[in-house]
Amino acid sequence: MAPSRDTCQPLFAFYQGSWYYARILHGVISTQQHFHPHPADILLATIPKSGTTWLKAIAYSIVNRGGKSSAGTGDNPLLTNSPHDLVPLLEINLYPGKPVPDLTSMPPPRLFATHLPISKLPVAACCKVVCLCRNPKDTFTSEWNFTNKLKVVGEEEAISIEEAFDMFCNGINAFGPYWDRVLEYWKASLERPGNIMFLKYEDLIDQPHHHFKKMAEFLGCPFPKEEDANGVVDEMVKLCSFDHLSNLQVNKSMNGKISGVPNSIFFRRGNVGDSKNFLSSGMIDRLDRIVKDQFSPLGLEF
Ligand code: A3P
Repeated sequence: MAPSRDTCQPLFAFYQGSWYYARILHGVISTQQHFHPHPADILLATIPKSGTTWLKAIAYSIVNRGGKSSAGTGDNPLLTNSPHDLVPLLEINLYPGKPVPDLTSMPPPRLFATHLPISKLPVAACCKVVCLCRNPKDTFTSEWNFTNKLKVVGEEEAISIEEAFDMFCNGINAFGPYWDRVLEYWKASLERPGNIMFLKYEDLIDQPHHHFKKMAEFLGCPFPKEEDANGVVDEMVKLCSFDHLSNLQVNKSMNGKISGVPNSIFFRRGNVGDSKNFLSSGMIDRLDRIVKDQFSPLGLEF
C-alpha cells in the first residue's frame, strides 16, 4: 500500500493488479460480488479524469433521446441533474451501499459507469461497453487538480505535483496503472469490436458530431438521416458541451445527490493540452517516453 504523506494512512491499496483508493476498495469488491449485468446493459468505462462526466451526458442523451430527454426540450433531465446523478458509478455510487441495491427493476437499457478494469467485472459477453481514454499528461493534470480540490473540501493537505507525478509514472494512480487500463480497453475493442468501443477524449473534442453518431450506431440507436439533417446531433453536441453543462445552475452550485461533492468539481477547463501549464519539460519528456514504450508496439498514439 502507498502511504499518504500527511497522515501515514494508506491512500492506495493494490488489489488484483490495480491501485485503488483504499477507502473505496469495499465498493470494488462488492461490485464484483453483487453486480449482475444484463445483456442489454451499457457500461461506460473510463480512467478517472478522462471525460467520464462528458461521456455520461452523451450516452444518456443518445439512449434517452425522444420525449422529454430530447436535446432541445426545457425539461431534459440533464438541465437539472448532474450527469453523475443520471449515470451512477458502480463501485463508488451503487455498491458500497448497504443493503446491496436491487437494480432488477431498472428499465433497459440500464446505463452504468465504471473505472474498474473491464476484465475484473462480470460483464456479460453481449453488453455494450464504451471506453473513453485521454492523453496521460492531461489525465494526470486533471486528476492532480481534482484531488487537490477534493482535499480542500475535506481540509486535508494537498500533495505536491512532483510527488503525484512520480507516483503516476510508477503506475500508482486511482484505478491505475494508467497504461494497463488504456491497453486493456484498446485490446478488448480490437478483439470484440461489436461490444467494445474505444474512444479518445481528444477525438471527441476534435469531431464531436462524427463521434456522437458513431457512438449512437454502436449503441444500436443510430440517428436517422432526417434527424441529423434537422440538427438533432448538433443540438446534442451543444447540450453536452463543456460550456453548456458547466454553466448550468445544477453544475455550478449544487452538491451531487449521490456523489455528495460539489458538481462544479467535475468541470475545470475541458481543454486538450492544459498539462503544459502544469508540467515541466522534464516531466513531459519522462511521460512521453513511457507512453511511447507502452503504446507504440500496439499502434496506439496519444
Ligand atoms: P480538466 O480538468 O482538464 O478540465 P471526469 O469527468 O472523468 O472526472 O473528467 C474531468 C475532466 O473532463 C475535466 O478536465 C473536465 O473539465 C472535463 N470535462 C467535464 N465535462 C466536460 C465536457 N462536457 N466536455 C469536455 N470536457 C469536459
